[in-house]
Amino acid sequence: MKRLLITGAAGGLGSMLRKRLAGYADILRLSDVADMQAAGPGEEVVPCDLTDLDAVTELVAGCNGIVHLGGRSIEDTWEIILNSNIIGTYNLFEAARRNGGPRIIFASSNHAIGFHPRSEKLDASSPQRPDSLYGVSKCFGENLGSYYWDKFRVENVAVRIGSCLAEPRDRRMMATYQSEADFERMVKAIFRASRVEHTVIYGVSANTEMWWDNSHADFLGYQPQDTSEVFRDKIEAQPPVDRDDPAVIFQGGGFAKAGHFED
Ligand SMILES: NC(=O)c1ccc[n+]([C@@H]2O[C@H](COP(=O)([O-])OP(=O)(O)OC[C@H]3O[C@@H](n4cnc5c(N)ncnc54)[C@H](O)[C@@H]3O)[C@@H](O)[C@H]2O)c1
Repeated sequence: MKRLLITGAAGGLGSMLRKRLAGYADILRLSDVADMQAAGPGEEVVPCDLTDLDAVTELVAGCNGIVHLGGRSIEDTWEIILNSNIIGTYNLFEAARRNGGPRIIFASSNHAIGFHPRSEKLDASSPQRPDSLYGVSKCFGENLGSYYWDKFRVENVAVRIGSCLAEPRDRRMMATYQSEADFERMVKAIFRASRVEHTVIYGVSANTEMWWDNSHADFLGYQPQDTSEVFRDKIEAQPPVDRDDPAVIFQGGGFAKAGHFED
């Protein structure tokens, strides 16, 4: 890979990936609206607001692959979700089309399917069931990916990331946890795959409690090596949960339970 763009590079996953992908591409182009550390060897730091289509088109020029992490990463006002996630993600896909269609990894979220109960096992063909405006924006991004593949042959993978953190924080995350190392493995597998078209996968480690089936995406070669089980004792030491709580019934947890942000 000659030049790989990471949007949202100042954020949690972006900073983690910046370190893990050092040397993976000839050049890592790192972009965000927030401050980023100065460019090191093999890096370019290019501040850019995703809401500005011309700027995003320039940002994407010369890139062979994109990991699109930029945007609001939790529920917020409609205005913020609209600008950062809906307009921002449209601009990113459109900029990719204008620049010859580099492969895109789109950071979708489990909150695109968060209103499915935990008792259901999902795969990529399960209907979207967003649990928030944030989740709706991720559904929009996934659908953009479908459209930009079908009409313009811009290849992309929408990753419904579970909880990519250093370690799970609660019982729900025993099912949704994806280790940072597995996230790195997944990104590399997606760029290594010969053809991805438009694929939706779940960003998750090889956890024992599993709500999601990724077998349709085996061709990508993503083989998670980690599991949340190593944190089991720590999580079991937490107070028991109320099984009638909507935050426990639904896959999206607290996002499904929360009120509407605009109220
Ligand atoms: N971390 C997880 O477990 C997880 C789970 C599901 C989905 N995701 C998705 O993965 C992505 C990265 O998550 P994160 O945890 O690193 O989030 P984060 O909030 O730490 O990082 C997001 C970054 O996007 C930037 N950004 C926001 N609006 C922007 C704009 N208009 N223009 C340019 N940059 C903008 C922010 O400044 C921030 O640095 C997000 O899209 C999030 O929705 C993450």
